[in-house]
Amino acid sequence: MKTLLLSAQAPETASIAADLIQKGELVAIPTETVYGLGANGLDEEAVAKIFQAKGRPQDNPLILHICGPEQIELLCHHIPQSAYDLAAAFWPGPLTLVLPARDVVPRRTTGGLDTVAVRCPDNAVTREIIRLSGVPIAAPSANISGKPSTTTAQHVLHDHDGKIAAIVDGGPCRVGVESTIVDLTEERPRLLRPGGIGPEQLLAVLGDLVVDKAVTAPIDKDAVVKAPGMKYRHYAPAEPVVIVSGSREKAAQYIHRHFTPGDRVLCFEEELPLYADCAPLSYGKEADVNTLSAGLFAALRELDDPKIHQVFARCPVGGGVAYAVQNRLRKAAAFHIVDAEAQE
Ligand code: TXA
Ligand code: MG
Repeated sequence: MKTLLLSAQAPETASIAADLIQKGELVAIPTETVYGLGANGLDEEAVAKIFQAKGRPQDNPLILHICGPEQIELLCHHIPQSAYDLAAAFWPGPLTLVLPARDVVPRRTTGGLDTVAVRCPDNAVTREIIRLSGVPIAAPSANISGKPSTTTAQHVLHDHDGKIAAIVDGGPCRVGVESTIVDLTEERPRLLRPGGIGPEQLLAVLGDLVVDKAVTAPIDKDAVVKAPGMKYRHYAPAEPVVIVSGSREKAAQYIHRHFTPGDRVLCFEEELPLYADCAPLSYGKEADVNTLSAGLFAALRELDDPKIHQVFARCPVGGGVAYAVQNRLRKAAAFHIVDAEAQE
C-alpha cells in the first residue's frame, strides 16, 4: 500500500484522514506527546490492524483519543468528580485517565480489561480528525513495539512506510514523551505512567496520589500489573544502555575509564565538550528539561544501531517532566544504573 503523507497545514487533511479512519484504515496522527498510530477505536477489525502493524502484545490496551471531556460519558461509567477536575485542569493536554469502560468499547481495544484509557490531545488537527470521523481514535505510540516512540512524521515513515494508509505530518512533537496516565477506578488515584503532567501538578488537583510500583522498578513479564504496557521491554535501542548518575565530573571520569571504541555517550548539551573523544550525542539542555523530553526519543532512535556496543547515558534529576524522562531512560536501560559518586 502507498502511505500518503499529509501536511497538518493543508485544509483538506482532516477530512481525508477522517475518511480513512471511518473506512477502518490506519492513520498516524500528531499529538503534543508523540505520534500515535490511529484507528477507529470502536471497530474491532480496525483495532486489530494496530496490534498487527506494531507487533504489539494483545493484552496491552490502547488509549482512546477524544475531542473533549463531554465524550468521556459515551465511553465510561462511574466517573468520579476527580476525572472532571483533572480534565478541566489539563485537557486538552498530555494526561490520560483510566475509568470503567462502557460496553460500546470493544475488549480488543482494552486488551480484555473492563476499564478504558481516554485522553484529549493538545493538537488542533488531530482533534478535528476525531470530530470529523465521529468516533474515538485508538492510538498507541506509532513505533514498532519495544522501540523508542515516534516524535516526527519521519520516524513513523521509517517504521510503517507502505504498511499504513496515511501519516499526518504536524512537525516534531512539543512534549516528546507520552502522556501521564492516572487510574481513577480505585479508591485512591494511582499514577501508572509519568508524562508531561508532573506528579506535583496532579497532587495539587487530587490531594492524593499513589505511585504504581511499575513506575519506579522493573516488572516481571508474568506479573499482573495495572498498566500492562509497563511490563514489556520499552524504548530500547539495539544495544545495552547504562545510566551513569552523579556529578558532571564524577560521571565523566567513570565514563572515560570504561569507554571502549564502538560505545556512545548520550549526554546533556552542556556536557558535549567533556566527551569530545567519546562519540557523544546530546538530547537537550540540562538547564531546560523540556528540551530533554522533546529530544529523548529522537536520540534513542539515532542510537538504535547494532554496530554500537553500549551507550552511557546521563539522566536529569527532579520532578515535573524530568520525572518522566528518568522513567523512560530507566526503562531503556532496563534499570541498569551506575552511581559514579560511589565508584573509585
Ligand atoms: O501520549 C500518549 O499517551 C500516546 C499518544 C499517541 O497519545 N499514546 C501512547 O499509547 O503512549 P501507548 O499505547 O504507547 O501507551 C499506552 C499505555 C500502555 O502502557 C497501556 O498499557 C496503558 O496505556 N493503558 C491503556 N489502557 C489502559 C487501561 N485500561 N488500564 C491501564 N493501563 C492502560
Ligand atoms: Mg508506546
